[in-house]
Amino acid sequence: MVLNPRIPVQHQPQRLTPSNTFKVSSPALWQWRQQAIADLSQIQARSLVDLKQELDWLLLEISDLTSLDLKLAPAETQLIQMQVSLEKLQQLWQQRLAENIPVQHLTGTAHWRQFHLQVSKDVLIPRPETELLIDLAVEAARNSARLANTNLWADLGTGSGAIALGLATAFPQAMVHAVDWSEEALAIAQSNSQTCGLDQQIHFHWGQWCESLAGLEGQFAGIVSNPPYIPTEVLPTLQPEVFKHEPHLALDGGVDGLDAIREIVAIAPQYLQAGGVLLLEMMCGQDDAVKALLSAQGQYEQIQIHADLAGIPRFAQAYRI
Ligand SMILES: C[S@@+](CC[C@H](N)C(=O)[O-])C[C@H]1O[C@@H](n2cnc3c(N)ncnc32)[C@H](O)[C@@H]1O
Repeated sequence: MVLNPRIPVQHQPQRLTPSNTFKVSSPALWQWRQQAIADLSQIQARSLVDLKQELDWLLLEISDLTSLDLKLAPAETQLIQMQVSLEKLQQLWQQRLAENIPVQHLTGTAHWRQFHLQVSKDVLIPRPETELLIDLAVEAARNSARLANTNLWADLGTGSGAIALGLATAFPQAMVHAVDWSEEALAIAQSNSQTCGLDQQIHFHWGQWCESLAGLEGQFAGIVSNPPYIPTEVLPTLQPEVFKHEPHLALDGGVDGLDAIREIVAIAPQYLQAGGVLLLEMMCGQDDAVKALLSAQGQYEQIQIHADLAGIPRFAQAYRI
């Protein structure tokens, strides 16, 4: 699981808020950035993360600068509006480097599809590749008249609520049921649904996978999940930003990484309507095993594997018979 934040937002203890505004002169900020980039030359070789890109994400997130501004240093001296002072920025950046804290935790936010989401150490930082699950759900609904008649969708293991928000936006008539086993994650997902104005369309449930959806058996047009799928022994080999700072409940898929996928594949047919679609994210290299699990379950048809934008098989799709 590669941590690839596109734009950051904010960290837990103290959320950076636009109400804290500081004006920093452009030469001072550019000098700080140049020095920070120069200092990276020693560290970058030891990191899997593109630290210069992260530095710029952090700057974009906490200031009124645009990506273009970062490419073209201002010709004239300007006052740049920032949510933190230059001293605090230096402190945050040093913390990022010394403790491998994801920039999204420093700012407390992450960008995913069109959403600007609150994140913390209690939720997985939503990854760009997961956005494809929403596109696959839309495609599945477009290709199946049977799905068009039902407006119930589920997001199992909602974390920050990203997938539930994506589904609610993609299917404006739908009611989305978002489940998580972490109460802290559910609180963040709920807060994100309110900030995004989608709380009327999403029900949140605390529980294990489908267990909290009792009473809704056979009613779902689609069940979507990005479950934990990293084999336990692989966890310590993940980049420290992930292993040290992201919740292991969101990552650890048991001995072979497939514990959660096994449970979801087994239970989902009970909750899907006939013709309903199951969409799962998985790790690179798990596609044959997941396909075999879906086939062996016996209640799925049209089992397909989809690749991410890098061409790596990362998503399984199957329809309930
Ligand atoms: C890989 S994260 C995905 C988070 C979010 N859906 C995303 O794509 O960014 C997996 C999520 O599953 C949740 N989870 C783990 N075990 C669970 C269980 N038994 N039942 C429900 N949720 C669980 C974790 O708390 C975590 O939020």
